Amino acid sequence: MSKIALITGATSGIGAACAHLFAAQGYHLILLARREERLTEIAKHLEDKYAIEVKKIIADVRDHEDLSYRLDTLPASWKKVNVLINNAGLSQGLDPIDKGNFADWDTMIDTNVKGLLYTTKIVSNWMVAQKSGHIINIGSIAGQEVYPNGNVYCATKHAVDALNKSMRIDLLPHGIRVTAINPGMVETEFSKVRFKGDESRAKKVYDGLEPLVANDIAEAIWFAVSRPAHVNINDMLIMPTAQATATIIDRN
Ligand SMILES: NC(=O)c1ccc[n+]([C@@H]2O[C@H](COP(=O)([O-])OP(=O)(O)OC[C@H]3O[C@@H](n4cnc5c(N)ncnc54)[C@H](OP(=O)(O)O)[C@@H]3O)[C@@H](O)[C@H]2O)c1
Repeated sequence: MSKIALITGATSGIGAACAHLFAAQGYHLILLARREERLTEIAKHLEDKYAIEVKKIIADVRDHEDLSYRLDTLPASWKKVNVLINNAGLSQGLDPIDKGNFADWDTMIDTNVKGLLYTTKIVSNWMVAQKSGHIINIGSIAGQEVYPNGNVYCATKHAVDALNKSMRIDLLPHGIRVTAINPGMVETEFSKVRFKGDESRAKKVYDGLEPLVANDIAEAIWFAVSRPAHVNINDMLIMPTAQATATIIDRN
């Protein structure tokens, strides 16, 4: 069997772009997300276009019992995962700390931190057994800086940065590579999800600047993965040219 990549959050944005790019490179794919119809459409398109095999996992990364069951019951040949892309994640709301919403906070912490941990624990066991693998953690500029009202989302991405560094240490004896990819603004469904379907508010985020597109991030991930086995890219911070920091943006 050729190489296998497992991508969480593969129904949209960065995860979907990675699925396309890795399929084009001949990888078989395990694609995970909650929206079944979309995942089925993407899987079929990639299988037809690239003559690869795709296993779909309809799951919520927050539910560790269901996640463990679905991943554990994969056939043994599919557990020889070469690349895990911990991409599933989201932001909910943009409120000052005193006005924050408990449910939004729980969703972000449970998905971005705990979901990433659950997936990593399961898949890193397979990688330890085979003494190889590459884990890509999708962090953010929000994991390097904080910005007004970004409080809990920024905290989750700072946690991803800490986990990325910790994993690199813990998995060092097993020959497993660990990389964080930290994007600035990427135009995906991210802002629509953050503003709970408010399309016009989401669009305003990108007003007057050229944001990154999902494929820019997929290509950076591919760069890290395609280095020779002795090279580990620890992290990459990738910004639109028009964005200097989380908050300093040239809109014209
Ligand atoms: N866009 C940006 O500006 C930006 C910048 C820095 C970092 N990031 C990070 O990049 C990653 C991808 O975001 P994106 O911009 O590509 O956003 P997106 O277009 O909204 O995609 C998010 C993906 O995550 C999946 N997902 C969300 N919650 C999930 C859950 N509980 N279980 C399983 N899958 C779940 C979604 O699929 P389902 O809804 O089908 O489950 C979707 O496929 C996130 O970690 C985000 O924090 C984005």
